[in-house]
Amino acid sequence: MGGESGVETAPRCPVTGADQSRLDPTGCPVSPNAAAFDPFADPYQQDPPGSLKWSRDGEPVFYSPVLGYWVVTRYEDVKAVFRDNRTFSPSIALEKITPFSDEANAVLARHDYAMGRTLVNEDEPAHMERRRVLMEPFTPQHLTQHEPMVRALVRERVDAFVDRGEADLVDELLYEIPLTVALHFLGVPEEDMETLRRYSVAHTLNTWGRPKPEQQVAVAESVGKFWQYAGQVLDKMRQDPSGPGWMQYGIRLQPQMPDVITDSYLHSMMMAGIVAAHETTAMAASNAFRVLLENRTVWEEICADQSLIPNAVEECLRFSGSVVAWRRIATTDTEIGGVRIPEGAKLLIVNSSANHDERHFDDPDSIDVRRDNASDHLTFGYGSHQCLGKNLARMEIQIFLEELTTRLPHLELVPGQEFTYLPNTSFRGPEHVLVRWDPTRNPEYRDPSLLRRRLKVRIGEPSRKTVARTMTVKRIEHETEDIVRITLADAHGRPLPKWSPGSHVDLELGEFSRQYSLCGDADDRLGYEIAVLHDPDGRGGSRYVHERLSVGDTVRVRGPRNHFKLVPDAQRYVLVAGGIGITPILAMADHLKREGRDYELHYCARSRREMALLDRVERDHGDRLVSHCSDEGTRLDVPALFAEPVEGTRIYACGPQRLLDALADATAHWPQDSLRVEHFTSDLGELDPSKEHAFDVRLADSGITVRVGADQTVLAALRAAGIDVPSDCEEGLCGTCEVAVGDGEIDHRDKVLTAAERACHNKMMTCCSRACGDSLTLAL
Ligand code: HEM
Ligand code: FES
Repeated sequence: MGGESGVETAPRCPVTGADQSRLDPTGCPVSPNAAAFDPFADPYQQDPPGSLKWSRDGEPVFYSPVLGYWVVTRYEDVKAVFRDNRTFSPSIALEKITPFSDEANAVLARHDYAMGRTLVNEDEPAHMERRRVLMEPFTPQHLTQHEPMVRALVRERVDAFVDRGEADLVDELLYEIPLTVALHFLGVPEEDMETLRRYSVAHTLNTWGRPKPEQQVAVAESVGKFWQYAGQVLDKMRQDPSGPGWMQYGIRLQPQMPDVITDSYLHSMMMAGIVAAHETTAMAASNAFRVLLENRTVWEEICADQSLIPNAVEECLRFSGSVVAWRRIATTDTEIGGVRIPEGAKLLIVNSSANHDERHFDDPDSIDVRRDNASDHLTFGYGSHQCLGKNLARMEIQIFLEELTTRLPHLELVPGQEFTYLPNTSFRGPEHVLVRWDPTRNPEYRDPSLLRRRLKVRIGEPSRKTVARTMTVKRIEHETEDIVRITLADAHGRPLPKWSPGSHVDLELGEFSRQYSLCGDADDRLGYEIAVLHDPDGRGGSRYVHERLSVGDTVRVRGPRNHFKLVPDAQRYVLVAGGIGITPILAMADHLKREGRDYELHYCARSRREMALLDRVERDHGDRLVSHCSDEGTRLDVPALFAEPVEGTRIYACGPQRLLDALADATAHWPQDSLRVEHFTSDLGELDPSKEHAFDVRLADSGITVRVGADQTVLAALRAAGIDVPSDCEEGLCGTCEVAVGDGEIDHRDKVLTAAERACHNKMMTCCSRACGDSLTLAL
């Protein structure tokens, strides 16, 4: 990179290398917004994702002259950088972001400070080799052993203040418990917590902050002492490495593999590990309490239904995570989101901005503890370096929330307090969270038995299937003889999450769970509309709706979720609906009309009598609508409509399988990805072990091999091995469980991939597809 300008030097244009201070800023490739970006100052310090909305919207990859880094802000780009750790090396993850003065560097040298490669900043292949041998203590079986200790610590701390009526949650609970748990996990003696707190602050400032020149010597002094302290603890451990901690585990492995577990690794990890396991979790928990108490109705929802806690933890990590940006360096000339990135470019990948990207999360600036894809957040990073300690952190935050929603549901933030944060690029959590409550209303005085109740801690990410909302049937209207339109409202009258066109909800109907697309007014936050066709040959869901559902009934509803998203930037859209498939298509047409986009809508059915929502379709989209009714001789001629490929056109279709098959055939010569379809049903049967064979899946990133039994899906086998793969429908319909495939022939059984995608043999749906042969290599 030409302009790897440090903070102190004159900013240089990253493309021409010219001294930018002598150029008109608007004439330079660096835009005024990019030139003004300063991650150590407001507005980034106040609100990292909010301060970068301009970037997500218009300039998602930009060079920051103030920082000397390229900044990446959209979800897909941030994820792609995390994933490709060879093109984007993590070696700079723990480098000082602000160079120190000579005097401060001399202090560090006096303490022999030599932070080296741990895991998070190690390149391949050394990283994976080390991670593999050190993974055991992070497996679910081992982590559950820490649960009783975390619970006991939390109970004891809350006992100390529960009768008092006020507390600083950070000082009295959320800071010290993650530190105690971190030390216990690592195997470090629990002494001198206050000193460690000072050291951790210094380490954060040293690595991710911009300490003023006059502060640098003091920071260097603490960092140097922290390094020395880590060395002393390590020496002591070496004398007796029999303890249960993760560090002792590494020390015991060292004689067998001295090149993998090096002295430098052990010393560096002893110091970095304390911060990695402690500050991250303490700050994440502090952020979570601030966010939930600021959104009182959300807090009350969790108090009323504690089964929401695991997903609430994920949503808080998404909404306000404790690691807001991470770093990588380009090892070669490359591209991110179409922007050329030169070899040697340093990258600030703002995962908190990715977590608020509306291209991935609907209504991203609202907190929704039932959000179905909350755990897609990138707060733990992604790919082979993804946080090893994520499940320990999740456990701690779940237990904090359980304890306080049980014992202090009437807790509130002290009004008017100002939240302060340590200025740095990456670690973010309030230094204090002051709360108050009326102790005479503590529920445990009336009902001491609630102190004996225990929720099951969820190790791993929450299942999307557990998060449902109770809704009431507000209206049922007959659209046609066989189709009813149903309006559902939140049972407590609360506003519903916003949704985007193509979204569906899952209704739990007796023993069934069925998906229905939303087709009403997307701006109506008080009701969701669905339309349901009575299908006498179906699996029973539609019969249940038609025969048993009445106005006033309550139903459990999951979602909304969207696996059928409109690409925003096409020049023209062709929408094709067959029968009841009009529901998602109508929502898309409404959106395109509102946005003033070019679209046409083809609506096919046997007869007009069978066309649901026809009045509304004609009223709102009459000039764009072409109706095709078989009994009127106007049946859609699919091959004729799509005979000529049109550049920039996207086709969205929903309807019966034969219509979707005809569309796939007719558009086979169109540019790849022109056609997107939504299937409503799957013809997957139960897995029949007598007709299947067992095979291995090799996980390229984790370096382990998992056996998939003849009676097991790949997804189930991966989960049993502690590997998180998100899933939703588990019927091959939605695409959530997609995984990239390196080697091996895939037996595709899903409805998501197009013929062209299947032919590439580079991805599969793990909930249903299998191996043709003995093994597959997955990019996990
Ligand atoms: C790596 C965040 C808690 C241990 C990471 C990374 C992030 C992160 C962003 C880098 C990921 C990447 O490069 O893709 C967090 C957050 C936490 C948390 C937000 C709490 C909410 C913990 C805990 C531990 C831990 C409790 C230990 C017990 C590690 C380790 C790595 C790591 C060892 C390096 C993994 C590797 O490079 O292979 N964490 N972390 N973290 N974290 Fe965490
Ligand atoms: Fe929906 Fe696999 S979970 S396709």
